[in-house]
Amino acid sequence: MRQSQRGARLAIARARCQSARVDNSAALPRPRRFLPSGPLRGTIRVPGDKSISHRSIMLGALAVGETRVSGLLEGEDVLATAAAMRAMGASVERLGEGEWSVHGVGVGALLQPQAPLEMGNSGTSTRLLMGLIASHAITARFTGDASLSGRPMGRVIEPLSQMGAAFEASEGGRLPLTLRGAWPAVPITYRLPVASAQVKSAILLAGLNTAGITTVIEPVPTRDHSERMLRGFGADLSVEIVDGERVIRIAGEAELKPQTIEVPGDPSSAAFFIVAALVVPGSELLIQNVGLNPTRAGIVTVLRQMGGSIDELNQREVGGEPVADLLVKHSALTGIEVDPALAPSMIDEFPVLFVAAALAQGTTVTTGLDELRVKESDRLSAMAAALTGAGGRVTEQADGLTIEGTGGELLRGSANTATQTHLDHRIAMSMAVAGLASRDGVEVDDTRPIATSFPMFEALLDGLAS
Ligand code: S3P
Repeated sequence: MRQSQRGARLAIARARCQSARVDNSAALPRPRRFLPSGPLRGTIRVPGDKSISHRSIMLGALAVGETRVSGLLEGEDVLATAAAMRAMGASVERLGEGEWSVHGVGVGALLQPQAPLEMGNSGTSTRLLMGLIASHAITARFTGDASLSGRPMGRVIEPLSQMGAAFEASEGGRLPLTLRGAWPAVPITYRLPVASAQVKSAILLAGLNTAGITTVIEPVPTRDHSERMLRGFGADLSVEIVDGERVIRIAGEAELKPQTIEVPGDPSSAAFFIVAALVVPGSELLIQNVGLNPTRAGIVTVLRQMGGSIDELNQREVGGEPVADLLVKHSALTGIEVDPALAPSMIDEFPVLFVAAALAQGTTVTTGLDELRVKESDRLSAMAAALTGAGGRVTEQADGLTIEGTGGELLRGSANTATQTHLDHRIAMSMAVAGLASRDGVEVDDTRPIATSFPMFEALLDGLAS
């Protein structure tokens, strides 16, 4: 197809997406059947990284003066963070597409919110903001949707309680919950019992307004965006490796300096298009602006081990993070045993990896994935059910899935039974990708959750798939 036609199609698809965004506020589910696709060819650009977008608004809101952010992800999760920071006194303004201006109040100067903080579907907003508020003299109530209200918060309640914060949580340490922050809070040294960047970040953010040194020990490294950005804003933060563990120390009563931040593209969003291009015959896709921080890039490593052709072009740095354009070509994939040590660097990418495995030659074995059971849904059981429903051969274990691939044959698809996405954006997008490589298409029960992390997903896909 000629470039101009493709451009026009993308523009139409974008316009459709705008109206779809309006529909997202509707109470009714928005089911959709994702149809088999011809080759995916062309160039796309992925939206801003969700983790980095949350953090740029939060830290901007704590720095006195104006922080300018470009490439911000305007997904519902990040908008929940923006609304919460406004409710606590910061000015957070949209200037244009992805262009935001944040005027912060200063560390220690957050205001008491006058209404409950509505977190929607966003675990990152909830856990990181619990950390921020824990060391302020603020009482805040956190509420969320059905998915978020089922997720464990004990993992942040425990260390933040040690710092002096008090919690009244729903049964099982869940939302809705009320947090009474402590000021002054007590610095702690905390070894993470679960590999979680959210827990690490919550403690570091609480440490910002806590006199003395707050220390987090990470036996297994997780995404390090908080450390990079805290340093960038001028916090006194050090990282040392001691006996193979990362020891992160932050000095409290920090003064943050406003920054200009360019948010790199989200590798977790790129992953859907990487897998789509690998599994749909004849595809050749250039995905621009993909963040390749080593703590996030496990999916690229694993897909290459499976035989995927993924080339990194135009390697550069954006916002202090490594970025490249990825040229992805349809490839015959082979099943592998995925090294569980890679899990933290691709924790959000397993649903779409399972789709790749379902289309590979031979068996893929994944283990050590207990954490997937407490994401936006139980992603092991949700993906086992979804792929089985689409004709995949999947066995579910306590901590992983074993998948027998089709060897490149199309999946049967699920024309008559809708895939249950359980309010989980990544299940919806993964099964959309499965639909492209199926005979009958894949019916997804509700596409609205996609807007939490990737509002343009369907528009980009519709612009490519023919
Ligand atoms: C995130 C950390 C991860 C990830 C989530 C975003 C972050 O969660 O699953 O989507 O921005 O810190 P955990 O740290 O709980 O594994």
